[in-house]
Amino acid sequence: MKPIKVGLLGIGTVGSGTFNVLKRNQLEITRRAGRSIEIAMVADLNVERARELTNGECEVVNDANLVVSNPDIDIVIELIGGYGIAKDLVMKAIANGKHVVTANKALLATHGNEIFKAAEEKGVMVAFEAAVAGGIPIIKALREGLTANRIQWIAGIINGTTNFILSEMRDKGLDFAAVLKQAQELGYAEADPTFDIEGVDAAHKATIMASIAYGIPMQFDKAHVEGITKLQASDIRYAEELGYRIKLLGISKRTEDGIELRVHPTLIPEKRLIANVEGAMNAVLVHGDAVGATLYYGKGAGSEPTASAVIADLVDITRLATADPEHRVPYLAFQSNSLSDLPVLPMAEIVTSYYLRMHVADKPGVLADVTRILADLTISIDAMLQKEPAEGETQTDIIILTHQTKEKNIVAAIEKIEKLDSVFGAVTKLRLEELS
Ligand code: NDP
Ligand code: HSE
Repeated sequence: MKPIKVGLLGIGTVGSGTFNVLKRNQLEITRRAGRSIEIAMVADLNVERARELTNGECEVVNDANLVVSNPDIDIVIELIGGYGIAKDLVMKAIANGKHVVTANKALLATHGNEIFKAAEEKGVMVAFEAAVAGGIPIIKALREGLTANRIQWIAGIINGTTNFILSEMRDKGLDFAAVLKQAQELGYAEADPTFDIEGVDAAHKATIMASIAYGIPMQFDKAHVEGITKLQASDIRYAEELGYRIKLLGISKRTEDGIELRVHPTLIPEKRLIANVEGAMNAVLVHGDAVGATLYYGKGAGSEPTASAVIADLVDITRLATADPEHRVPYLAFQSNSLSDLPVLPMAEIVTSYYLRMHVADKPGVLADVTRILADLTISIDAMLQKEPAEGETQTDIIILTHQTKEKNIVAAIEKIEKLDSVFGAVTKLRLEELS
C-alpha cells in the first residue's frame, strides 16, 4: 500500500521529537499501522534550522499554507501552538479534506467545537492525544478504554511545569523564579509561561477531558482557573503537618445539578499515589461507576514523550483512514448528536472540603468566635492546628480543615471571619479533595 503522506507544521520541541521518533521506529510503526507513514513536508519559520533537523529527507518550506494546500498530503500535524495562525491552518487543512493531528490544547479548549463540526462535515479526523498529559494515553483511555462507564470524576496533575515547580520548591527550598526558568530550559513550559503558572494550561486540558468524559461541548470559558502564584510556602508546610500535599489539580465532577470544572491548588492526603507524583510527571485519576478508580501516570511534556502521543494519533488515522466516518471513534467520545446540555456549575455551587489559615490574636475566645461562624453556616470542622506564637509574639496562625460544604458557604464564612477584631488580614482558603 502506498505510504501515507504527512505535512508537519512547526518543528520545535514536539515537532522535532515527532520527526526523530517516526524515523527511528519507522519499521515497527509501519508494522503496526499496516502502511508506511512519511513526513513529506515540513513548514517552519526557521527554515535553516528545519533543514538541519530534517537532514534533506523532506521538503522544507516557511509558508505553512503550502503544506495545508498540497494535494499530496493526507495528514497535517499542527505543532505551532496558540490559536491565531494555528487555527487558520487547521481550518484550511480540514477544508482541503486533510486529517489533522494536533497537540494544541489551547486551540481545542477554546475553538474545539467549531473545529470538530467542520471536520465532521468534511468527514476527516482530528486527533489530539498529545493535547492532554503529553505521553500518557489518557484521551484513548477516556474515549475507548472506559467507554462502558459513567465517569463520576477526574482529578489530574496535568501541568508538568507547575508540578515541577511545587516539587522543587518543597524538596530543595528553591525559589519560584529559578525553578520556572529551569522548567522553561527543559522545554516543559508553554511559550507564555503564565499559562502554566496561572493554571490556564491545566484548565485547557481539564476542559478537553471533561468534554470526553461527560459528553458535553468544550466550555473553557466556564472553567474556574486558579494557578500557583499566590501559594505561600507556609501553607505547603502546614498542609504537610496535617498529612497533606498541595498539588495543582484539574478537577471535573459529575453532580446531580451539573458538572464541576475547576483548576486550583488542592490539598490531597499524602498517602494517595497521586500525591506522590513529583517533578514534571503527570498523573490522572479517573473514577468510573463500573471500574472504580484508575490511575494514569507518565511524562506530560517534553519532546519525545509528547511525540509518542502524536505518532499514536498518526497510526490511528492511518488505520482508520479508509473506514467510513460513521464508524470511527467520535472526537468527543459521544456521537456529536448526543452531546448533553448538562451545565457547568458556577463556582459558588461546587462542593468540597477546605483548608483555612488565619492570623489571629493569641487570646481567649478567638477560636470560639471563628467556630461559631462556621457552625452558623453548617460548616463542620474536620481538623485544626493552632501554632504556638513565636517568642514575644502575641499573634499566631490557626489552620482549620473543614468537612465538605458548598463554596458559597465558605465564602460567606470567610467574609464574617475577616470582620472579627481578633483576625488580622485575609483568610487563606485552599480546597481539599480526599480522592477516595
Ligand atoms: P515550540 O515553540 O518548540 O515549536 C513551535 C514551532 O513552530 C517553532 O519551531 C516555531 O518556529 C514554529 N512556528 C511558529 N509559527 C509558525 C508558522 N506560522 N509557520 C510555521 N512554523 C511556525 O513549541 P512546542 O513544540 O513546545 O509546542 C507545540 C505545541 O504542542 C503547542 O501547542 C504546545 O502547547 C503543545 N504541547 C507541547 C508540549 C511540550 O512538552 N513542549 C507537550 C504537549 C503539548 P520559530 O521557533 O522559528 O518561531
Ligand atoms: N506546558 C505544559 C506543561 C506542556 O508544563 O505541562 C505540556 O502540555
